[in-house]
Amino acid sequence: MVFDRRVHVTSPAFSFENGAELEDVLAPVRNAAGTAGAQLPFVPSMTHRVLAHIENRGLDLADDVLMTPTDVFTSAERFAADRQMMQRTPHVVAWGGEIAEPGDYTTKDVMGTPVLLLRDKDCNARAFVNVCAHRGAQVASGCGRATRFTCPYHAWSYDTNGRLASLPSRHMFDGVDLSELGLRPLPVSEQAGLIVVALDPSVSVDGFLDDAEDLDSFGFDQYAHAQSAELHLRANWKLAVDVNFEGYHFPFLHKDTLAPIVTNNSVFDTFGMHCRWAFPFRNIEELRKIPEQDWPERFSGSVVYGIFPSCIVVESPVSTLMLRVYPGESPGTCVVHMVGGSLHPMKNDDDRLLAQAGFDGATAVLRDEDFPAAEACQRGAENGLENIILGRAEPLVQHLHREWDSAVERLKPSA
Ligand code: FES
Ligand SMILES: [Fe+2]
Repeated sequence: MVFDRRVHVTSPAFSFENGAELEDVLAPVRNAAGTAGAQLPFVPSMTHRVLAHIENRGLDLADDVLMTPTDVFTSAERFAADRQMMQRTPHVVAWGGEIAEPGDYTTKDVMGTPVLLLRDKDCNARAFVNVCAHRGAQVASGCGRATRFTCPYHAWSYDTNGRLASLPSRHMFDGVDLSELGLRPLPVSEQAGLIVVALDPSVSVDGFLDDAEDLDSFGFDQYAHAQSAELHLRANWKLAVDVNFEGYHFPFLHKDTLAPIVTNNSVFDTFGMHCRWAFPFRNIEELRKIPEQDWPERFSGSVVYGIFPSCIVVESPVSTLMLRVYPGESPGTCVVHMVGGSLHPMKNDDDRLLAQAGFDGATAVLRDEDFPAAEACQRGAENGLENIILGRAEPLVQHLHREWDSAVERLKPSA
């Protein structure tokens, strides 16, 4: 297991008492964001849909109820099939802004594979397996700027094309064609400002996000890494994704945290395999008094993208968070990589404080409320519950399970 050295979950107890803390954070941003004419393209229609739901006490619903057998969370065969499916699927792993400039690099764990991402001198994103050709140690860690990557073990050194550029005591390797050695490249592309990679060299990453309209309006190529954390859960990876895509639980699980400031008058859209869910802050109703062209550029609430198979991008007016959820070592475990970002390169302490507040708030709710619920459901699945029942107010959880099931079927290795 590779541990991210940047891990530092910094929030102690987090509370939204009377919504005061979040409001304090939001106020300056709301004002700053209230630029006429700069709205993200989907904001007006999304806002109108939500305001109509508030008026009717409604939300976007699924057509029907879906029963899903719990062995998708517990069976060894399904677990193996999930892993195979995810090995054959592209993954969004970073914001393009994490490697904004030529020479920038960052490292990621993708389903247990150490991956090095970098931007080469021609400004192209490159991805390599972060494994030294000598004896396998990781040649880079964390993030930064570099033109060479020198393995900490015996100092074999690689250039930004992944080629082995130098090594100590070269004559000790007589007979080995060193010119053939280097870091193994992975399929990579940049779409909508997001870095997409695949672990299997035969998988095409092109066009992976073509269906996900509006994703490119966020400017992910400008987003900066602020901080990150890695959580190991005793829950199947799908349960850890599911908790992010319905608000039916808001008044109960988040009674004292989210519920005072948001409502479940939510809307959803699907984009092929991908999806988007959005729910409003309670004070979105104040926009009724303001002409549409003066609405803030960002939706007054949370916009949550589900990028197949298990990347979750959470956008609010003040914060941005990327979660990547991967299977753990058994059906009942998973790993969640959480990265908190800044909507633009961080220049001063205010930028850093804002990024930290957004990250601390979101991660505290997930860590202390949502993910324990996922673990509780895993215990249920392992102790006699045969089906989960996804009601009409859980439409995107239904969508996620349908898409996972069909991808597992489609990408099964031929016998
Ligand atoms: S393992 Fe990298 S130089 Fe030896
Ligand atoms: Fe939740």
